[in-house]
Amino acid sequence: MAAVTPSTAGRTPLIAGNWKMNLDHLQSIAFVQKLAWSLKDARHDFAAAEVAIFPPFTDLRSVQTLIKADDLPLAFGGQDLSQHDSGAYTGEISGAFLAALEAKYVIIGHSERREYHQESDELIAAKVAAAHRHGLVPIVCVGETAEDLEKHGPSAVPVAQLRVALEGAVTGKQLVVAYEPVWAIGSGQAATSEQAQQVCAALREVLSEALGAEVAQATRILYGGSVKAANIAGFMREADIDGALVGGASLQLEEFASIAQFRKHVGT
Ligand code: PGA
Repeated sequence: MAAVTPSTAGRTPLIAGNWKMNLDHLQSIAFVQKLAWSLKDARHDFAAAEVAIFPPFTDLRSVQTLIKADDLPLAFGGQDLSQHDSGAYTGEISGAFLAALEAKYVIIGHSERREYHQESDELIAAKVAAAHRHGLVPIVCVGETAEDLEKHGPSAVPVAQLRVALEGAVTGKQLVVAYEPVWAIGSGQAATSEQAQQVCAALREVLSEALGAEVAQATRILYGGSVKAANIAGFMREADIDGALVGGASLQLEEFASIAQFRKHVGT
């Protein structure tokens, strides 16, 4: 079988590593350095697959300094942001601060934020608006629980979540969508590529209705949930999957580098 050719219709694939609450700033520096070496060794073509990392907030300044000093071709972003810009919001992080650190992306509405911090679709829309106000590219996460899946079928919940989230989007600003079935996150039980494709196609329809066909065609939709080197190629062959949001496997250096190198996977 030939090496993987992604069907992304001109969209640059994005492999994003969500570190969640792992790695302090010293560990982050060591990891980023090794990741950059490993990808360089493998002659990774960053124009053909962008690689982004999402460390904890306390690591961001160190990561930014390293990436800048060594001119590393890695993008980075925050795992969340406040819907507010400044003021009496103890513990919150403004999009302005992320922008000042030259973060490119910010993850919004991850299922762990929705579940443990009761983030509503409306709050997520406000955060999308905040990201756009500060020139950040939001990675908007949507996905159904196992219970939703049983009750409403595969795409009803993510489609409804995305519709509301897009109310915060500013016309002309870039965004990324991540379809992450909650039952697949951290479970070792990834969706099949066919299942993921079906939902991602429905999400592209939502993008088309809300933002127009042209924007929908240009917008990247990622799959997330137990992605690893052994299953990335199958997802990347699907027409509406343009990359992956990777949790657990993004903390394993060789595994993550291998996911980023999905084009070289043969026969998987
Ligand atoms: P996982 O997490 O890859 O460990 O399943 C994905 C995510 O939560 O973004």
